[in-house]
Amino acid sequence: MQSGIGAGDRAGTVLRVNDQVDTFSQLAAIVGEGHVLTSDGDLAPYTVDWTGRYRGTGRIVVRPGSTDEVADVVRLCRRSGAAIVPQGGNTGLVGGSVALQGEVVVSTRRLNLIGDVDRSTRQITVGAGVTLGEVRTAAERAGLCYPVDFAARDSATIGGSIATNAGGISVLRYGMTRRHVVGIEAVLGSGDVVSHLGGLIKDNTGFDLAGLLCGSEGTLGIVTAARLQLVPIHTNRTTVLIGFDSVTAAMFAVDRLCSSSDEFDAVEIFFESGARLVNETFDRSLPFDAPCFLLIEMSSNIDRTEWLAGELERVPHVVDVAVALNDAMRTNIWRLREEHTPAINTLGPPLKFDVTVPVGDLPDFSEAVHRSVHEVTSEASTYLFGHAADGNLHVNVTGIDPDTQLARVVEEAVMATVVAFHGSVSAEHGIGSAKKRFLSMSRSSAEIDAMRAIKRALDPDGIMNPNVLFD
Ligand code: FAD
Ligand code: MLT
Ligand code: ZN
Repeated sequence: MQSGIGAGDRAGTVLRVNDQVDTFSQLAAIVGEGHVLTSDGDLAPYTVDWTGRYRGTGRIVVRPGSTDEVADVVRLCRRSGAAIVPQGGNTGLVGGSVALQGEVVVSTRRLNLIGDVDRSTRQITVGAGVTLGEVRTAAERAGLCYPVDFAARDSATIGGSIATNAGGISVLRYGMTRRHVVGIEAVLGSGDVVSHLGGLIKDNTGFDLAGLLCGSEGTLGIVTAARLQLVPIHTNRTTVLIGFDSVTAAMFAVDRLCSSSDEFDAVEIFFESGARLVNETFDRSLPFDAPCFLLIEMSSNIDRTEWLAGELERVPHVVDVAVALNDAMRTNIWRLREEHTPAINTLGPPLKFDVTVPVGDLPDFSEAVHRSVHEVTSEASTYLFGHAADGNLHVNVTGIDPDTQLARVVEEAVMATVVAFHGSVSAEHGIGSAKKRFLSMSRSSAEIDAMRAIKRALDPDGIMNPNVLFD
């Protein structure tokens, strides 16, 4: 292991916080002046969220370079009563990563050490500020794969993906982030450092703090490093784009294909209107038109293209199929799916929903959700895309100012539809500040009370990301 990763437990520098708190100089004493940002220009990349909807009011960004520095920063903030918003790549989509009420932003991007791959366990320890793309590259160099993957891979950090328990395109085969975090190091809101990075395969020694921090959205502490489980890499990849005449036909195919093989890495869905928008916005070429598309990727140690072609022949209502014959074609097919988010954002910050319903209900839900928005307003456009095999649809409503009463009514209509289908109000992005008022639609009051009790225990003064999760 490289020094600086998982270094953790040293007692913090003693900081005297007097009544006239000079936050800047005290933070600078911990991390160095160059890593406390206060000018408008320096703050800009940390202040507005990826969608442009959420704007922070915080005036300080601090960039610690080690776990000890993070611990000293948290202890200082706790003593001076300053709240903290942890920030990784600032790609979160629920308004959780910016300082909405003047909090101190603690950026983890300097926690960027990457340890060696341990080949015997297929594990790696990395700093929280390392991006998903960097971990994936390190794993690939060792002939392995870190299977958490999504379009923001080159900016989203390991810490942020743990804090949101991120999903992405390979959940069907490999599960969400929590499944891959076998050890964690974090500075809790109390200022205490917890570090458990040994990566033992069996280790039933009480509460699973790594699992608890997954999905905690920065409310319990700042993740500083993680031990990640990698998986074997496969030699052959098959990527196809399939057009269907309806979402019902597409989901019939999903059911049939997923019952015949466990080698599907990605089964993604999008629709005609979104595909056209991507085409027009980024000047891409859509190989054919269809009402509904599935992007399917398999990986295996043998070539699965023929097998998949055979299966697809038995699937009804296929409009057309495009098979990626090389990497350039694969990239083009993936762009049609992954560029939905930036294409939609060019229309102005959308109302973003990230919901799951039981997979079999996805066709009925997709119709119902269009209807529910249309019943509130005819001025909005609704784009659907997502991770078909997970029952996870991203419902994006454009043409409405997200900060209006109309937007609130649309949000309530969509969420009521989700609940009517026994779905979840957040599939993979988390609750953030955007979905707080809907948490009780998916979690009972006993569950929320238990979460609050855990927060009180680990963050006694409530300084950690106070804007998110709980209303
Ligand atoms: P940030 O945005 O910086 O923060 C997100 C949350 O985590 C905040 O609440 C923040 O306070 C907290 N946090 C950040 N770092 C830490 C830390 N070290 N310790 C404690 N708390 C921390 N998400 C998916 O799940 N699946 C997808 O398919 C997907 N696709 C995306 C595609 C695009 C184009 C974009 C822009 C985003 C996408 N996302 C997706 C959302 C986002 O990328 C993920 O939520 C990601 O995990 C956030 O990582 P980040 O480092 O940018 O975190
Ligand atoms: C995706 O799957 O592309 C994302 O989660 C991003 C989004 O919801 O916009
Ligand atoms: Zn997604």
